Amino acid sequence: MHRSRGFNGFVLLMGVFMLCLAANSQLTTDFYSKTCPNVLQIVRREIVKAIKVEMRMAASLTRLHFHDCFVNGCDASLLLDGSDSEKLALANLNSARGFEVVDAIKAAVESQCSGVVSCADILAIAARDSSGGPTWKVPLGRRDGLVANLTAANTTSLPSPFENLTVITNKFAAVGLDIKDVVSLSGAHTIGLAKCGTFNNRLFDFGGTGAPDSTIEATMLSDLQNLCPLNGDVDKTTALDRNSQDLFDNHYFQNLLNNKGVLGSDQILYSSNEAISTTKALVESYSSNANLFFTDFTNSMIKMGNISPHTGSNGEIRKNCRVVNSS
Ligand code: HEM
Ligand SMILES: *[C@@H]1O[C@H](CO)[C@@H](O)[C@H](O)[C@H]1NC(C)=O
Ligand SMILES: *[C@@H]1O[C@H](CO)[C@@H](O)[C@H](O)[C@H]1NC(C)=O
Ligand SMILES: *[C@@H]1O[C@H](CO)[C@@H](O)[C@H](O)[C@H]1NC(C)=O
Repeated sequence: MHRSRGFNGFVLLMGVFMLCLAANSQLTTDFYSKTCPNVLQIVRREIVKAIKVEMRMAASLTRLHFHDCFVNGCDASLLLDGSDSEKLALANLNSARGFEVVDAIKAAVESQCSGVVSCADILAIAARDSSGGPTWKVPLGRRDGLVANLTAANTTSLPSPFENLTVITNKFAAVGLDIKDVVSLSGAHTIGLAKCGTFNNRLFDFGGTGAPDSTIEATMLSDLQNLCPLNGDVDKTTALDRNSQDLFDNHYFQNLLNNKGVLGSDQILYSSNEAISTTKALVESYSSNANLFFTDFTNSMIKMGNISPHTGSNGEIRKNCRVVNSS
């Protein structure tokens, strides 16, 4: 009796111990130190090359990791081609870019350590290296998923610039991210571009939409109306941070204080009624304290990179990031 209770207690303790292990030690920063010791240098070299060709690629690569992690976890499902490709989702079609650069990185890595480094890890390292923002040790050891999910990418998982703060916050919460993550990660919009089609709903009154949005600063409003006229080219672009578009800094948050957020989903962090008690204070803090933004952004990127990774014998190490390995 005694013995068996002790034994049950032991089993229970071991169970709890192993659960803790599983939760904490899935990814490690030295995962490839034996199997591909130069992986970080190889990725960085390819990114430097790509950014020399086109500065914007820095932003595009940063965004890919986000769009990967929100659908099926950080498993490179975004990179798969085919009829169920997440690349066809509204948020990605004619918008997500950098896939050729990822192919080049993968090829360079494969040439030194074949079949070892996952595409999901390449996206995580690239997001860190490309942004030009704060740096950190990237937890590694993710394996690549075997399926994409277009439906999830199109509707349930990726946030849209037209959604309100409650909906966006819920999409972050669905992958274990909180309000602070919403605000600090939105700070990635300190680099990169947005198309007219992603914010022109704020510029004109299409009938009952309440536009022009009262939370757009007047000069920026007329600039953007000129860039994106009614019935104009919705693919024309402007900087998300019209103050310093190539620099990873805290101007994005300063812009919000001045009603110069480009996307509706940017400006609501500061201006919407929903923002008052939650996100507004964070925007103010980051706008006056770049170091705080960098610290919180780093923590949130690591948290985002931890969304449901495949580890152990789950998933696979893809040879080509665009297709699952043939068995
Ligand atoms: C909070 C919800 C978010 C929404 C609604 C959103 C929406 C958008 C939209 C509409 C664009 C412009 C796309 C285009 O015109 O083609 C964009 C660009 C971008 N987003 Fe987000 N985003 C969000 C969060 C994030 C997060 C968490 C990150 C990364 C950590 C991120 C990184 C970027 C970057 C770097 C760009 C510029 C990409 C480029 O120039 O190629 N965004 N986002
Ligand atoms: C794809 O995502 C949708 C919406 O989140 C979900 O209902 C569906 O079960 C997913 N399909 C697969 C194959 O995981
Ligand atoms: C994505 O969703 C939109 C509506 O949100 C729909 O019009 C479109 O057909 C969908 N596209 C795909 C490829 O599922
Ligand atoms: C946010 O949008 C959702 C879906 O459109 C809607 O049901 C909800 O009422 C909105 N919330 C606020 C506070 O506007």
